[in-house]
Amino acid sequence: WGFYGHKTVALLASRYLLPETAVFVQTYLYRGQSIMDAAVWADRYAHIPLGRYSKTWHYIDAQDDPPRVCEVNYNRDCAVSGSGCIVSALVNMTERIQNESLPWAQRAQALRFILHFLGDIHQPLHTEHKQLGGNRIKVLFHGHEANLHSIWDSRILESFRGRPTERGIISFTNELQDRIESGEYKSEATVEGWGKCLNISSAEECALVWAGGANRWVCEYVLKDEELEGKELGGEYAEGAVGIIEKSIAQAGYRLAGWLNMLVVGRHGLDE
Ligand code: ADE
Ligand code: ZN
Ligand code: ZN
Repeated sequence: WGFYGHKTVALLASRYLLPETAVFVQTYLYRGQSIMDAAVWADRYAHIPLGRYSKTWHYIDAQDDPPRVCEVNYNRDCAVSGSGCIVSALVNMTERIQNESLPWAQRAQALRFILHFLGDIHQPLHTEHKQLGGNRIKVLFHGHEANLHSIWDSRILESFRGRPTERGIISFTNELQDRIESGEYKSEATVEGWGKCLNISSAEECALVWAGGANRWVCEYVLKDEELEGKELGGEYAEGAVGIIEKSIAQAGYRLAGWLNMLVVGRHGLDE
């Protein structure tokens, strides 16, 4: 995702943190750094030479065959790269943040990675190998050249909501929180639904469940039409996509809160 997605995931999650978790998170942020700023750090880091090793941690390249087959398989899709994927990275960072023998800076970094990866693992094209996760599919978006990956990361959402300003992010977060608590998502945003896999001792299994859910959208919508190359996607396609994007961001925020609560307090806190 871009700034809009990641910052909303983090702000939404902050609304569901148990008090002890909120204190913990605060302890591992820099002075003056918001949880939203911390959630976007990993993309900048991946683009500087020092952090290049972490580039493959932002996705898992499911080598499935959309739109016919969508499935994520850890041994086939993650270990192959040698440098890890979003699933192995989440497992490692979940271990590191709990490791009290690590220095503060390392645990703080693990927190920033977790805040970011819970977001990315819900972006359908961050779970898909085909055409480099859509990066190689050139399309048009409101008459401008773009690639499929970038419109799913940010351009579709921004075409409906504008630039990711602080006000915009707060109002989007409020809207998603309303949908979770009393609206469209209420029946799914439950401990038994979105909260089903929040088991930090089976982090790999949970991350695979989340990645698998995101990957299902690749068959059901993202790459359902086999020929997107060169097409204008700003109209009907974007209108169908925005609902999927918003729900995926809501899911990510809800699960991020549950995950952090599990890490710090040992219960997800989503039913309180
Ligand atoms: N590079 C290779 N595969 C990718 C993906 N699925 N998402 C983002 N970048 C990638
Ligand atoms: Zn992306
Ligand atoms: Zn990323």
